[in-house]
Amino acid sequence: MASIQNYPEEKFTEAAHDWDLERLYKDLELSKRQVAPHKRKGLTDIEKLHLRGLLCANSPDEIAKKLYKNSRGLNTELSKTIYRYVETLTNRLTNTLENWRDIYKWLEESGYKARSSSSVPSHAGANPKPQESVSEIPVSNNSDFVGREEAIAHLNKLVNEGAKVILIQAEGGIGKTTLAKKWFELQGLEYLELRVGSTPQNLNSVEDWLRVKLRDYFKENPEENFMIMLEQLKTQLQIIKIGVLIDNLEPALINGKFIEPQHSYYVELLTVLAHHSVH
Ligand SMILES: Nc1ncnc2c1ncn2[C@@H]1O[C@H](COP(=O)(O)OP(=O)(O)OP(=O)(O)O)[C@@H](O)[C@H]1O
Ligand SMILES: [Mg+2]
Repeated sequence: MASIQNYPEEKFTEAAHDWDLERLYKDLELSKRQVAPHKRKGLTDIEKLHLRGLLCANSPDEIAKKLYKNSRGLNTELSKTIYRYVETLTNRLTNTLENWRDIYKWLEESGYKARSSSSVPSHAGANPKPQESVSEIPVSNNSDFVGREEAIAHLNKLVNEGAKVILIQAEGGIGKTTLAKKWFELQGLEYLELRVGSTPQNLNSVEDWLRVKLRDYFKENPEENFMIMLEQLKTQLQIIKIGVLIDNLEPALINGKFIEPQHSYYVELLTVLAHHSVH
């Protein structure tokens, strides 16, 4: 008998009406490579199936029921695959996803929805408009931001003096990331966010980050070679004034020096960002 395992591509196909599935599959492929470099390249049919189920506003339990699968097993599978890929794609830290609806919401906010749909899950829809590449420019949600006038003035002074790269260094949890985001917001400056990773064992690839930004934000065709991609970035930054926030650099450092193999990637990236010709 034909089962869904045999023909996973035929289920939840209505997702294609509302979502730019091909682009999403392609982008998630890159995220998968970052999250699980040991796994086979490209999304599997089952991963695509589960993703479509979520995009059709099905909860994991509903998906499990419709696919005759064990609900707990499906939840575990999602936690190892789609949830992690989407977090990476939308520039979230690992395990920040709290609810399956986040998948729908985050991807919608990132502009993967082809056209508006009436089947928005109840918790989603804070940002119903499809917005091209908005995920590249995380929007600060610190409406309750307080103080830091001196720090902001200091940043302004450094920038006015011509600083291109500024290191904000302070103890954990004191507000470094919030300050950086607020500063960009005050300047009305869009910024690309590079999340370094949370531990030395799970650092994100600078190369993959650059490839995704070139393609999705700058609408460039990224070259294979990292150094050539950096040239592409440099050219763009000579035209466009945009910020780059490299957040949480610490796991990539030992005694203030970049660890291998990240060392040369960061040095080359920072060299471009610090170049006098870029905005
Ligand atoms: N100026 C501020 N006004 C209000 N809340 C703030 C401010 N700065 C930081 N916070 C809050 O404090 C918490 C920690 O801030 P943040 O994540 O920016 O710290 P951090 O120094 O980047 O931390 P880490 O060292 O873990 O990266 C967050 O919940 C943030 O919203
Ligand atoms: Mg931080």
